This record gives sequence, C-alpha cells and structure tokens, in this order.
Amino acid sequence: MQPASIKHFLNTQDWSRAELDALLAQAHRYKQDKLGDALKGKSIALVFFNPSMRTRTSFELGAFQLGGHAVVLQPGKDAWPIEFQLGTVMDGDTEEHIAEVAKVLGRYVDLIGVRAFPKFVDWQHDREDVVLKSFARYSPVPVINMETITHPCQELAHVLALQEHFCTTDLRGKKYVLTWTYHPKPLNTAVANSALTIATRMGMDVTLLCPTPDYILDERYLGWAKDNVAESGGSFAISHDIESAYAGADVVYAKSWGALPYFGNWEPEKPIRDQYKHFMVDGQKMALTNNGVFSHCLPLRRNVKASDAVMDSPQCIAIDEAENRLHVQKAIMAALARQ
Ligand code: CP
Repeated sequence: MQPASIKHFLNTQDWSRAELDALLAQAHRYKQDKLGDALKGKSIALVFFNPSMRTRTSFELGAFQLGGHAVVLQPGKDAWPIEFQLGTVMDGDTEEHIAEVAKVLGRYVDLIGVRAFPKFVDWQHDREDVVLKSFARYSPVPVINMETITHPCQELAHVLALQEHFCTTDLRGKKYVLTWTYHPKPLNTAVANSALTIATRMGMDVTLLCPTPDYILDERYLGWAKDNVAESGGSFAISHDIESAYAGADVVYAKSWGALPYFGNWEPEKPIRDQYKHFMVDGQKMALTNNGVFSHCLPLRRNVKASDAVMDSPQCIAIDEAENRLHVQKAIMAALARQ
C-alpha cells in the first residue's frame, strides 16, 4: 500500500517556498562538504526513457556520496518496456504494467527517479505527464522528476547558481529574460516551463522572449507564473522584441523549444523556426544587458543556441549550474529519504 502522505518531487510548484529554500540551503552545505550519510543503506532507481549525461552522472554520484546506491534502468533497452494505459489488452510491445513496475521497485529501493520526455505527437496527451504521474500513483516510495514536461532539479541548480553569482539568496527585483533560441529540431518545453516557474517564484522581473505568439508556453505555466508573481512581488511579461527584452537584463537564460500549435505536425513548423536563427545568444545581445549573466541547462549546440564568445565569457554560469545539479539532487534525495 502507498502511504497516504507520501511526498514526491514532481514539480517545485508543489513545494512551499520555505521547503525550496531549505533544499537550496542544504545544497549549498553539500557543495562545501560533499560527503554525508543521509542515504546510508538506501538506494534509488533511476528510470531513464531518454538519454542523459548530467542527470544520470549527478544522481548516481550524489547517491554514492551520501552512502547510498543507484540502479539505472532504461525500459525498452535494458529493462522490459512498460505499459501505462489502464485497462488495456497488452498484446503489443509492452511486457509489464506500471502498476507492477512501480510497486516492485518500491520493494527494493527507497526512491525512484524518472526521466520521460514527451512523445512529440499530441501535446494534449503529453501535457498530462502520464509516465511521471503513473510512477507517483503506484510507487510506495517518493518519486523524483528527472525531466518530463518540467525539469525541477534543473530549476534548483539554476537558482543556486544565480544566488552564488549575485552573492545573495534574495533574487527579487532582478531582471530575468527567458529567451527562446534556435535549434534545428523542435525540442521539449520542459526547461522553459521550469525556468518561467522558478524565476517568477523567486520574485524576479521575468520576460519570456520568443519569436511569435506560437512559441508562447502552455497556459498551465503561464498561470503558475502569474500566480507566482502575485505572491512573490515580481513581474511577468511576454515579448517578441529582442532589443527591449535584453535591455538592462541581469540574467539571460536560453532554451529552444518547438511551437505548441504545431505539436505533432512539425513539418510546417520547421520553415517558421528557421526564420529565427538570429535569436541565438551572442555578444551583441549580451552587450545590451546590465552586465548580465548567461546560463543554459546544457547540452548546448555552440554557435547555434549561443555563440562561442558567450559560452566562453566570464558571464556564463552554465557550468556552475550543471555542477549544482549534483548538490541540489543530494538535498532532494536526502529530504525525501527521511520520510
Ligand atoms: N540538463 C540536463 O538535464 O542534462 P542531461 O540531459 O545531460 O541529463
């Protein structure tokens, strides 16, 4: 049976500001003193439906550094393909149902991490986050979102990097630009949804900069952003004008994503997206900022999403943010394993 009060880490929006601040403070401590015993004798299953470099490495090492053990599973590759639909006749390719998978894993491990990107066919289906929610529904142990349609671990790593750069935990009033940038493929909106969520939560003055109204994010995340600024005292605006959005910015965060109205019908989106290669973050745009910092979740295609000059500049904190994945995830695992 699943404990009624089980707490997962599916989205930062489910956690109070005080709880997020406590995770960030613990992550800061782990950065100073990396070893601990919060996961001594405990384990985490890391279930990857999609590739990863940072997430897998930082979760595996984070568990090890806290005295625990991580098991990586890739359903359909080194583990059985999983069915998520309820009441279906499983006469296709899937070999077992999430109802059994999550419960069995919960008999072995203390935590489950899940990475499951959208299928990029039907946004109305993908926006329900069925894989993550199914794990949370059936798992008797806490579930951690390792990136689905949001990327909450990246959010905390990003905030920790900003706090370090600005030498303060109070980011209120910083001018924050979340800019769409070019990529030859239509990518997941997860990191953009997350950046919008956490930047507004922290009380920053946030501008979502994207080429056209088609690139505006899903209404759920716009709603969260509006709720967050009402509570945090920040602000939220949408712009399609590069110069005014960058002007005076303290933070530029870049991500590429596919336009939601074309979800699953990507062929006509490609020539539209190709008109906006000039959204790439470069030195000329960064010169408009208030000596602003630049970051990106990585991986990043150089001279497509951001120029070499931006990536190699002292204002780029993307490597700090990537390092912070390790520290924030240790804080998350330690907090959830205590339950
Ligand atoms: N930023 C991030 O999640 O990186 P990976 O896809 O390499 O895990």
